[in-house]
Amino acid sequence: MNIRQAVLAGALGALTVAGLVVTAAPASAASTLGAAAAERGRYFGTAVAANRLGESDYVNTLNREFNSVTPENEMKWDALEPNQGSFNYGNADRIVSHARGRGMSVRGHTLVWHSQLPGWVNNLSGSNLRSATNNHINQVMGHWRGQIHSWDVVNEAFEENGTRRNSVFQRQLGNGYIEEAFRAARAADPNAKLCYNDYNTDGQNAKSNAVYALVQDFRNRGVPIDCVGFQSHFNSQSPVPSDYQQNLQRFANLGVDVQITELDIEGSGTAQANNYRRVVEACLAVSRCTGITVWGVTDKYSWRPNGTPLLFDGNYNKKPAYDAVLAALGGSGGDPDPDPDPVPGACTVSYEETDRWPDRFNGRVTVTAGRSAISGWTTTVTVRSPQRIASTWNGSPTWDSSGNVMTMRPNGNGSLAAGATTSFGFTVMANGNWTTPTLGSCTTS
Ligand code: G3I
Repeated sequence: MNIRQAVLAGALGALTVAGLVVTAAPASAASTLGAAAAERGRYFGTAVAANRLGESDYVNTLNREFNSVTPENEMKWDALEPNQGSFNYGNADRIVSHARGRGMSVRGHTLVWHSQLPGWVNNLSGSNLRSATNNHINQVMGHWRGQIHSWDVVNEAFEENGTRRNSVFQRQLGNGYIEEAFRAARAADPNAKLCYNDYNTDGQNAKSNAVYALVQDFRNRGVPIDCVGFQSHFNSQSPVPSDYQQNLQRFANLGVDVQITELDIEGSGTAQANNYRRVVEACLAVSRCTGITVWGVTDKYSWRPNGTPLLFDGNYNKKPAYDAVLAALGGSGGDPDPDPDPVPGACTVSYEETDRWPDRFNGRVTVTAGRSAISGWTTTVTVRSPQRIASTWNGSPTWDSSGNVMTMRPNGNGSLAAGATTSFGFTVMANGNWTTPTLGSCTTS
């Protein structure tokens, strides 16, 4: 640490003690996708395949550039529960521990989907399918409870014309199966953001209108849903729609987050770069667009490799599309300083109520690291007597003598990559007082 860094560290430390939220001016523009996105309050993720984690170029690129991961196939039903009631978590666990050990967040993909289903699910009828689905959701979400930032609870449930896809779930359980899945998911991991995820819903059309109506209905009736995923698989037959940003915004206006979940754009050179730039700019223009995930690290392992749709070529070289994305995020290509000036980590906290019953409500606090990684965090939650916090999850609480002020610290490893988030939750018995709890500042360690 040089003198300037030491002075800066001291100054930030003092501000943190004073309880202020610190936003330091960047010492230099971020030079990776994850760090640049973090400066814009977003994550930048990629799909990951467990069987590539032994390849050093793959892992080095993943670790350097991304601060969120989605297992590409390892959390699908056929991978996790190939035989009824017998769960194989090994490959998915490898991805989750790789990510979390480096402070990256994890998207869960996916719980209820017509594809990549083991045969036994397709053979169930009625109540057997309902209980098998609930059990799958409970077991899988329970296995990673508190470790998955967002789950794709239901994937690709609509046809292009906006009618329901004729899946085994639709046939056996009827229209209510999506709602049932989201309710089961909230109960299984109250801390995870619950998303509906689909493709060809990126612009306004019959399919996205149907998803919009579903989300609007859920919001009106209090069915739990937190986010909508837009897969964003683009090519010349299915280009980036002209109303992409407006479509993201209309969903955000329903009170849900929007996420770009499986981005890839076939093409090359400047044309591909310009399309990627448009997508990133659209996300940045929508405040509830919380992050972007590309569907793979390198063209050579893409699900459609001939389309070269990703940001790194088969030799892990950065493509023009990479430069366009980094620039759109406000980063700059490469830091010439081999020992760039680190800024000590800061963090911020935000609160939302996630559920309410006649006598109590659940709250969720999201902790977000600032523009550099942090190794731990602390914040406080104050409730108003006669309110009482009855239970907490995904954190280690301590209490003041009044019992009204809870200090929350991480449960185990509290490290977060730059811009990464985690969250904890709690249940408040209202005892007639429905005042929203207040948060103290977030302090780092
Ligand atoms: O692992 C087996 C291997 O053992 C076997 O030899 C080989 C022979 O075909 O298959 C391998 O499994 C393949 C798997 O990818 C892993 O590479 C499957 O056949 C193949 O069907 C599977 O494709 C995946 C596809 O979903 C299945 O629907 C792609 O990797 C994955 O990128 C793709 O992802 C989907 C999202 O989940 C949902 N949205 C669309 C997106 C693109 O299709």
